[in-house]
Amino acid sequence: MILPASIQEVNDTAKIEDVVGDFVNLKRRGANYSGLCPFHNEKTPSFNVNPARNIFKCFGCGKAGDPITFVMEHEQVSYVEAVRYLAKKYRIELKETEYTDQQREAQRELDSLYLVNQFAHDYFQQQLFETDRGKSVGLAYFKQRGFREETMRNFGLGFTQNEWDGLLNTAKRAGYNPDLLKKLGLLTQSERDFFRDRVMFSIHNLTGKVIAFAGRIMNKDPKQPKYINSPETEIYLKSKVLYGMFQAKKAIRQFDECLLVEGYTDVISLHQAGIENVVASSGTALTPDQIRLIKRFTPNIRFVYDGDAAGIKAALRGLDLALEEDMDVRLVLLPNQEDPDSFVQRVGADAFKEYLVENGKDIVQFEAELLLKEAGNDPTKRAGVLGQIAKTIAKIRNPLRRDEYLKVTRQLLAVDEGKLLHEVNRQVKQDLEKQQKLHGATPNWDENEDSSEQEMPRSRPQVQEQTISIGDEFQEKDLIRVLVHFGDEMYDAEHKVTVAQFIWLNIQDVVSEFDNAFYRRVLEESMGQAQQGVALNHGFFLQHKEADIRQLAANLLSSPYEFSEGWEKRREILLNQKMPEVNFQIDANLVIKQLKLRKIGRIIRQNQEKIKTNPEDLMDLLRLDQRLKEMRNSLAKELGMVVV
Ligand code: GTP
Ligand code: MN
Repeated sequence: MILPASIQEVNDTAKIEDVVGDFVNLKRRGANYSGLCPFHNEKTPSFNVNPARNIFKCFGCGKAGDPITFVMEHEQVSYVEAVRYLAKKYRIELKETEYTDQQREAQRELDSLYLVNQFAHDYFQQQLFETDRGKSVGLAYFKQRGFREETMRNFGLGFTQNEWDGLLNTAKRAGYNPDLLKKLGLLTQSERDFFRDRVMFSIHNLTGKVIAFAGRIMNKDPKQPKYINSPETEIYLKSKVLYGMFQAKKAIRQFDECLLVEGYTDVISLHQAGIENVVASSGTALTPDQIRLIKRFTPNIRFVYDGDAAGIKAALRGLDLALEEDMDVRLVLLPNQEDPDSFVQRVGADAFKEYLVENGKDIVQFEAELLLKEAGNDPTKRAGVLGQIAKTIAKIRNPLRRDEYLKVTRQLLAVDEGKLLHEVNRQVKQDLEKQQKLHGATPNWDENEDSSEQEMPRSRPQVQEQTISIGDEFQEKDLIRVLVHFGDEMYDAEHKVTVAQFIWLNIQDVVSEFDNAFYRRVLEESMGQAQQGVALNHGFFLQHKEADIRQLAANLLSSPYEFSEGWEKRREILLNQKMPEVNFQIDANLVIKQLKLRKIGRIIRQNQEKIKTNPEDLMDLLRLDQRLKEMRNSLAKELGMVVV
């Protein structure tokens, strides 16, 4: 474990313009720098580096963060690896806690598992390329399938003879302990070769180490499985691995999209054809962890599945999962009887890409068309379609994206807005209740599954309250903006009240009314930390353990202020035309009042509803109405607004 003080030192020393400058050609623009974004393809520079705040931000693709984040993203490495990289660059000696004997032993064991797998890989490859039967059977098979030699080496393809002890004997001679081979599933319990008379596929982890194998039978034999795989081991957790990710990760980031296919050979064929941003779930059902793995490289995922019933069914299951992880999901079904491998080999890469674009459907469109087709002219079935689609839309966590889907659905199903919203809301509520039953009432955000690596936890599946309209989100975000920018400044130096404390004191009573659960969580979580004496400075947010919060902070700290229409003018007058930076007391005051004004407006409306329906409490409710309106009017007056 690297000690926090060392990480702090790295953070304090690393200069964003230097770190980025090693990879991007930066031009000075006033106090900042700009250049072509390394994270997406662009011709005019929208990538910005801000030395004063020590952060970068791309106004094209939205990527933003501090030096460590930049290295993580650019080099596709873990948090710890990024810290080590920067430490090396700046010649900082990292102080680490000592490893226990037990930890050292575990590490040695892991290392030897990788070593043995690499040895087996070399053996399978040597069998393929350098033995007579390997060449006449294995190599001939791959060649007949259209694979070039370079591709075979890149993907670690191999061959095993039809014998019980080929690998065992070679390993023994080379001095490897058979127990380790057993552990890896390369030998059976009775110490015989597990993979026999098959062509071999290596499965790699993100850094390119061989972690497992799959073996494919070459002849059709209904009595034997087509593929057999290594079992789960300490270094092969099936639910977290995607086949081809090591070879694909650069291209996925570059094209900002990941193609997901079903088979090993699909990945290999597409890659060989120059379509490199492709991975496979390889037979098993897609897992949330696999989707999160993709999410590290891109939010865009495109399922490319067979057009048969099984393909559609598999796709639908995966699509739902991807939506729940807040991915942007598209789906392409291939013509009947084709898989990506056969299709790309038949039509070529250009036609394949064209097909993807022309036949890509977003999930809602796909589902709606499929369900409408199934329903035919049956009016009850057609009514059921609405419920199904609502279920899908309810899974989308991002309110803006959800709004987009709502629009599409309204048109596709020709239903009115109210009915659709009602259906989605009902579904959201049901999902929430189900999740709360499943996980208990309070979700735990801090749970860290990757205890082996001292890595920043990525976004977790989150139980969030969902609302359809974006309501007061703008004002809520504006409040967070002030908190992130100035949280640590003194609002009232005499009484030692920070801006954060001032915000909290004034906003507590309406926090439960926040429309955006994420902003609410940021507020509550950071205030919790502040109460324990943590300073809410830029670093607190930029180096937060939650990726979503780091990203939000980087965005807020680097974008020009967003103001809603009209509000901009009023604010200008109130702030006396000075930038908020030099006027943060007034700024904080204004955002609080602005937000409270919205919330009080809402409470007034709710109260007026009650007045209509609860005649027995009429007097009390009217008095409350009066009080609320007084509050609203005085707030409005302070904000220089006239309320009619
Ligand atoms: P080829 O026939 O070599 O082109 O393979 P494919 O990828 O087209 O096979 P298919 O579409 O039948 O299956 C898709 C994926 O499911 C494969 O790549 C395997 O990962 C997995 N799979 C297929 N058959 C088996 C099997 O018998 N056992 C296991 N464990 N996995 C299988
Ligand atoms: Mn195939």
